[in-house]
Amino acid sequence: MAEIKVPFYGHQRQYLSIKEEIDSKMQEVIMSGQYVQGPMLKQFEAELAEYAGIEYAIGVGNGTDALWLTFMALGLGPGDELITNANTFFATAEAMWIAGCTAVLVDCDENTRCIDPQAIRKAITKRTKAIVPVHLYGQCAPMDEIRKIADEFGLFVIEDNAQAIDAAGDTFKIGELSDAVCTSFIIQKNLGTFGDSGALWTKHKYINDKVRKLRNHGSSQRDHHSYGFNSRLDDLHAGILSAKLKHITKWSDMRIAIAKKYDEGLKDVKGIVLPYARPGYRHVYHLYEIETVDAADRDKLLKHLVDSGIDAKTHYSIAVHQQEGFPWGKDARLVGPLTNAEKNAASCISLPMFPEMTDEEVQLTIDAVRAWKK
Ligand SMILES: Cc1ncc(COP(=O)(O)O)c(C=O)c1O
Repeated sequence: MAEIKVPFYGHQRQYLSIKEEIDSKMQEVIMSGQYVQGPMLKQFEAELAEYAGIEYAIGVGNGTDALWLTFMALGLGPGDELITNANTFFATAEAMWIAGCTAVLVDCDENTRCIDPQAIRKAITKRTKAIVPVHLYGQCAPMDEIRKIADEFGLFVIEDNAQAIDAAGDTFKIGELSDAVCTSFIIQKNLGTFGDSGALWTKHKYINDKVRKLRNHGSSQRDHHSYGFNSRLDDLHAGILSAKLKHITKWSDMRIAIAKKYDEGLKDVKGIVLPYARPGYRHVYHLYEIETVDAADRDKLLKHLVDSGIDAKTHYSIAVHQQEGFPWGKDARLVGPLTNAEKNAASCISLPMFPEMTDEEVQLTIDAVRAWKK
């Protein structure tokens, strides 16, 4: 294997850039003696709610839990259909199954790779209860169009925002047009802790109250329980996230600046398609995802990059419905064609992207893509 010249992630670099702030938060938690549902979690939830401009934010164990806990809090379960795009990380559909719902997979837009509103319309039945748009790769789905459909058919909207904290639409903010926003803080996300955790935010008090109970063994009062689970965001992670949240806008801007350099350096390369950012949207480039025009070239270009020391990857080379054995006895429905989702899976490559990338690393990556010969 070639020596890695350009890594895919820069977790340690980011830590070193704000080491004192993170270390001090961790010390504060350790010395407080309260590590689970303690004061740091409360503080971080308040900071997150303020950042999101919304009433309630609730920390949970991970992004997948944030989704299914929200579905459960909304009373969604067996017999209820939830619509999402087929080209997402597996967990979006998995969360629907955990809640006992039917995952309905539809196509994405051929440019943005976010869910196609026309495909949503085609998939609606009497059993449809919710739309779960994914803000894929760091770009918002068209929430204004999705809201219109939801209002027309009386549906819930739950945003899967695992990849797009700090993104925005042209006329809307994340959370403004939905019932709840779910996010992941696993280390590789734009706001990530050193391990797993997640959160959701909502304007609805009943979702807040229900999820707070569900995440803590169905308990909101000592020794009193109803049906629930254990899915809490530890105070140590909350401290790390509290330190990092202050920097998220700056880090997003750094990602956007790197994306601009990629755009400029790669714009005339034949045989690849660069990411499409919708005019007026704030795309925060969780991933800088290119595609090969010819799907047969994807693995060749990927190998060329890896052989050149560029730690490129794929997100996601197998769409949800293409996973082996799909749907494993779970309840699912495909409303095709899924042409764009399948093309995306077959031809996607993610170039290294993290805020602390140096100019030299960006240039090395550009040079390696440009040096590729079909
Ligand atoms: C789009 C999407 N949804 C859900 C998740 C699940 O988050 P987690 O891994 O924290 O459970 C992720 C990331 O992992 C994701 O990228």
